[in-house]
Amino acid sequence: MHFIPEALDEYVVKHSENEPELLQQLTRETYQKILQPRMLSGHYQGRVLSMISKLVNPKNILEIGTYTGYSALCLAEGMQKDGELHTLDINEELFDFQRKYFDKSVYGAQIFQHLGDAMDIIPKLDKTFDLIFIDADKDNYPNYFNVIIDKLNVGGIILSDNVLWSGKVLETLKKDDTSTKALLEYNALLKKDPRVETVLLPIRDGLTISRKL
Ligand SMILES: C[S@@+](CC[C@H](N)C(=O)[O-])C[C@H]1O[C@@H](n2cnc3c(N)ncnc32)[C@H](O)[C@@H]1O
Repeated sequence: MHFIPEALDEYVVKHSENEPELLQQLTRETYQKILQPRMLSGHYQGRVLSMISKLVNPKNILEIGTYTGYSALCLAEGMQKDGELHTLDINEELFDFQRKYFDKSVYGAQIFQHLGDAMDIIPKLDKTFDLIFIDADKDNYPNYFNVIIDKLNVGGIILSDNVLWSGKVLETLKKDDTSTKALLEYNALLKKDPRVETVLLPIRDGLTISRKL
């Protein structure tokens, strides 16, 4: 989704960091072998995630929605040397693909995969986090916020992807559109919850940064 004219979008990408070679390989193989390749964060958003992670310099990172591991590898770039990245996905068919790319990177030993429904796994994680990326099923975004907020350290960051949902947040809500309904609820929740301060960035499909107070 382009929220700015395509030519300007191209200029933005051209004047941002290049995509690392390993992520180019991962993208190619995702497009060749995996369904719904558009789900991966991609070059520009990946560089944004990497930059935010480097600014936060988190010890522990939690990612909800791994897919083929693109965003996990971007977030790992900012992780502390003794840090851990825990990434969750419900689709077991993606597990070996993710592992292959995690192990090709220098972060392999620091990345831990969790297979299953994020709402079952998160309460069992005995860790706190400095950076959390929410990028799984949209219907659960408000639930994810409620289960992670106590696991986020003060000063820690939640990044939430797809919060503009291709602009559907502005359209008349259809009765059966549970994803848009949940995202509307989620965006309102982040704005009013006194535990976080929030800025919604119109990057790609909308990326919100919330910082725990
Ligand atoms: C948009 S993709 C993630 C893309 C990835 N973060 C990236 O940028 O490369 C969403 C992923 O969430 C996973 N997912 C959906 N519902 C889930 C759930 N309830 N628990 C865990 N993972 C879930 C899907 O299997 C899918 O791989």
